[in-house]
Amino acid sequence: MSFFSVENLNINLGEFKLQQVSFDLDRMDYLTVIGPTGAGKTILLESIIGFWQPDEGRIYIEEQDITNEPPEKRRIGIVYQDYALLPHFTVYENIAYGLKKKQKQGIKEKVHEIAISLNIDHLLHRMPLTLSGGEQQRVALARALIVEPRMLLMDEPLSALDPKTRRETRGLLRHAIERFGTTVIHITHDMEDVWSLANKVAIFKDGCMLQFGALEDVFNRPKSEFIAEFVDATILKGMVRENRDGISIIDVNGFKLTSLDDATPGEKVRVAIRPEDIIVAREVPRDISAHNVLEATLEMIVREGKTSSLKLRVRDSLITVLVANSTLHRLDLKPGDRIYAVIKGANVRIV
Ligand SMILES: Nc1ncnc2c1ncn2[C@@H]1O[C@H](COP(=O)(O)OP(=O)(O)OP(=O)(O)O)[C@@H](O)[C@H]1O
Ligand SMILES: [Mg+2]
Repeated sequence: MSFFSVENLNINLGEFKLQQVSFDLDRMDYLTVIGPTGAGKTILLESIIGFWQPDEGRIYIEEQDITNEPPEKRRIGIVYQDYALLPHFTVYENIAYGLKKKQKQGIKEKVHEIAISLNIDHLLHRMPLTLSGGEQQRVALARALIVEPRMLLMDEPLSALDPKTRRETRGLLRHAIERFGTTVIHITHDMEDVWSLANKVAIFKDGCMLQFGALEDVFNRPKSEFIAEFVDATILKGMVRENRDGISIIDVNGFKLTSLDDATPGEKVRVAIRPEDIIVAREVPRDISAHNVLEATLEMIVREGKTSSLKLRVRDSLITVLVANSTLHRLDLKPGDRIYAVIKGANVRIV
């Protein structure tokens, strides 16, 4: 049995239902949960912590059925967006708080050890309200981790922080999680969290878990248009024309795509392409190993910090491409330009 399992979880809250959620985690997995607002992400976390009693389904941790256990017996920690520190206690007392119920000795050493790992050891004498948001969140993390929870749940823990603090806190969080070997479920709206922290990802919508899996699988092979859009990938529908030694040639609405995935001629398929797997060029590239060189019209450029998202039209299909802004300048790209999209066969994935 896996380290942690949710089996067919159903929770009926009247207007909202969490429906048939099942997934397993191994020890030290880092799962990020993503999905639009109102999808049921927080309800999922609150049912794992024991705040909601499911109408159906079971939750197991370390082979123990915890579905009917009260929250305090589950040994699962939780960190919210608002740090929820005890305002009249010092940072030291806040961190030591949970531990005091568990042990009497070695508290000081343990508080210092965890404070060092989260870079808050110089703040232990301070009162929480004198700290910055990032510092308060590190204290909240320390307080949750010090009791060595079997699992740590986090509901948008970094979203109240400014981008620079968020990056720093993310780094310290990763460091602490690795050091303590914690198994994590982390709800986020920030794809940076997903890319830099998680090894697994789950996508929720309307109370249902649409896809769950290893990060690469979900991002490279989104199972639906909705998921593809959510993870910025392009999905194209087509029909397999030929299979040459396991390499598929696919007809997509007036153009051909070559994929290294195996498929049967005549089969209707959907292919997914990641925006960072496409190279744009002014000329047809010479001696290139990529199987796909598509003529495209640049329809739109959306600046996103150091990178830009381009919408390319190839016949009737729209394809999203991510490029560095330096590429944009080097190629002097403008909406309306005729360019080429170059895609390796390995990056055209049948989903
Ligand atoms: N106590 C409750 N009774 C009935 N419905 C509730 C209750 N709490 C939350 N809901 C509803 O359940 C749905 C899912 O809520 P949830 O907080 O899990 O969304 P979420 O995915 O975390 O969204 P966000 O990204 O905005 O935090 C929402 O439509 C919400 O209004
Ligand atoms: Mg929420």
